[in-house]
Amino acid sequence: MSLLKDKVCIVTGAARGIGAAIVKKFAESGAHVAFTYVSDSSADKAAALENELSNLGVQVKAYKSNASDFAQCETLVNDVVKEFGKVDVCVNNAGISKDNLLLRLTEDQWSQVIDVNLNSVYNMTKQVVRPMMKAKSGSIINMSSIIGIRGNAGQSSYAASKAGIIGFTKSIAIELGSRNIRCNAIAPGFIETDMTHYLKEGTVGENFLKDIPLGRFGKAEEVANLSLFLASDLSAYITGEVISICGGLSI
Ligand code: NAI
Repeated sequence: MSLLKDKVCIVTGAARGIGAAIVKKFAESGAHVAFTYVSDSSADKAAALENELSNLGVQVKAYKSNASDFAQCETLVNDVVKEFGKVDVCVNNAGISKDNLLLRLTEDQWSQVIDVNLNSVYNMTKQVVRPMMKAKSGSIINMSSIIGIRGNAGQSSYAASKAGIIGFTKSIAIELGSRNIRCNAIAPGFIETDMTHYLKEGTVGENFLKDIPLGRFGKAEEVANLSLFLASDLSAYITGEVISICGGLSI
């Protein structure tokens, strides 16, 4: 399938987990992909992903860039435009959680989560809309969460950041629709990755499972499939939407 043939895509926070699955899916679908990682400890994984995809006949390149840092996002997008010529798709995937009940949640934990999950989406969107406006086309995909829709005890900072993404997504869709730039959010439920690994075992995981009609956790590749749909022209008339991928958890 070449749904993204010759498109240039940026994916943030993609050395592992959902981001890495999106990079793979996009490259396999014909896209050239620039993806980011933030810590030196992820450099090997990022290089391995580049290497794994090197035989697909597309360009895949890892950049060390902190999505919560405005200046680094500006440099990143300038570098990608220089090297790849344009930006057609941006997936704002980078995210963290620092779960704690409000009574124990520190100001620092709150700020880190808002910086990485929400401010990063502003930082990247602000930069990619310039080349997209020039090209009169673009698709921005923001990784929200079911938790941003329904909230969860112990996740107030995470929920606030992911709910903020939804308001931002809808506003950008309205602002930039006339420029043929689409902006949608994905709201995953419980997807098996390093982020949720600690939740899977024991009673927390069992309790989640009881509420999931499909009776299982999701896979990163399944979120990548939805991202592919939203990145491609198959979704050309879809903007400002929040699409849940949660096995029915949100029903
Ligand atoms: P993960 O922890 O495996 O991956 C997140 C990636 O973001 C990591 O590679 C991390 O190094 C990177 N990252 C963190 N801070 C960054 C920064 N400042 N700049 C650039 N990269 C940074 O987590 P997972 O599960 O793959 O999550 C991906 C996205 O999906 C996140 O936004 C997460 O909130 C969201 N999500 C995940 C769910 C799940 O069940 N796994 C459910 C709902 C949403």
